[in-house]
Amino acid sequence: MKQSRTKLVDQHGRHIHKLRLALLDACNFRCIYCMPDDPKFMHKKNLLSSQELISLATHLVDLGIDEIRLTGGEPTLRSDLLEIIRGLDKLNLSKLGLTTNGQHMAKLLPELKNTTCKHLNFSLDSLNKVGFQKMTGSPHLEKVLESIFMAKELGFNVKINAVLMKGFNDKEIEDFIDFSGRYDIEVRFLELMRIGEARESFEKKFVSADEIIERLKKFSSITPISLPIDSTSFNFTLSNGANIGIIASESKPFCTGCSRLRLSADAILRPCLMMNEGYSLRGKDRNEISDLLHKTMSLKPIERIYDVSQPMNQIGG
Ligand code: 5AD
Ligand code: SF4
Repeated sequence: MKQSRTKLVDQHGRHIHKLRLALLDACNFRCIYCMPDDPKFMHKKNLLSSQELISLATHLVDLGIDEIRLTGGEPTLRSDLLEIIRGLDKLNLSKLGLTTNGQHMAKLLPELKNTTCKHLNFSLDSLNKVGFQKMTGSPHLEKVLESIFMAKELGFNVKINAVLMKGFNDKEIEDFIDFSGRYDIEVRFLELMRIGEARESFEKKFVSADEIIERLKKFSSITPISLPIDSTSFNFTLSNGANIGIIASESKPFCTGCSRLRLSADAILRPCLMMNEGYSLRGKDRNEISDLLHKTMSLKPIERIYDVSQPMNQIGG
């Protein structure tokens, strides 16, 4: 018999119901705020297999998780991605999503269309080829754009994430506003987080939410959109119809409303993006997973932890 799902509430009254599931730590891009110069990726043998992933996710969903977002590294580099998604598809989820750099998405979309994985977040830091290559190390801007437009056309719920960095893409805020209005796609500007690679000359590159809001206001009047309390972004509509979100992890942290846990590609369940502590769920049965899940929840900080040395691709952005 299927076990009933319970509501997970931590000691601070936060309803924990979202899981970010990293499928691997490797990536075909080299975003300057994320990847170390000489990244060391996990041994393939340490990655959870598709069966292990599906089985762990099944237990976690029975225990109270109702939203899963697949991350990495770059999840599309897993050759068994569709198999994993088809397995997760059978779970009682209210939302299944994927965060990708988009290079390999176009060819997956027709199959993905037949699953419940409908929420696609694309990382897109620049709308011009030179800027894109500078920030991501990739020449494939066109492929990414093609995937984004195709996903939109096929009816996926599409969002774009752009990490803003002074001297890199901060001049493009207006271009992104135009893009959002023109194609009816939500664009979220992410404050650079002081994690791993991004810590180097952080102050020089950081663009704050307040600066972004000023720029939006220069463009047009802005109307706040109301969102769930555990939303990581706050959003506005602009006069051209753009839907612009701001994820202010540094200047306006959202820890008090946080509803997430993270499972790394090698099975460590972590309470927070900013914490290395966690528990391995590899090979554990349902009771053990339940116990470790509650232990992990009790580690969840209520205030923002600053300065994390671990590279972002390993934590699973
Ligand atoms: N600051 C902000 N966002 C980051 N990401 C990765 N590293 C950082 C950082 N240092 C984001 C990516 C992507 C998601 C996976 O995580 O841009 O949208
Ligand atoms: Fe890859 Fe995403 Fe990191 Fe860029 S931010 S290097 S796309 S994992």
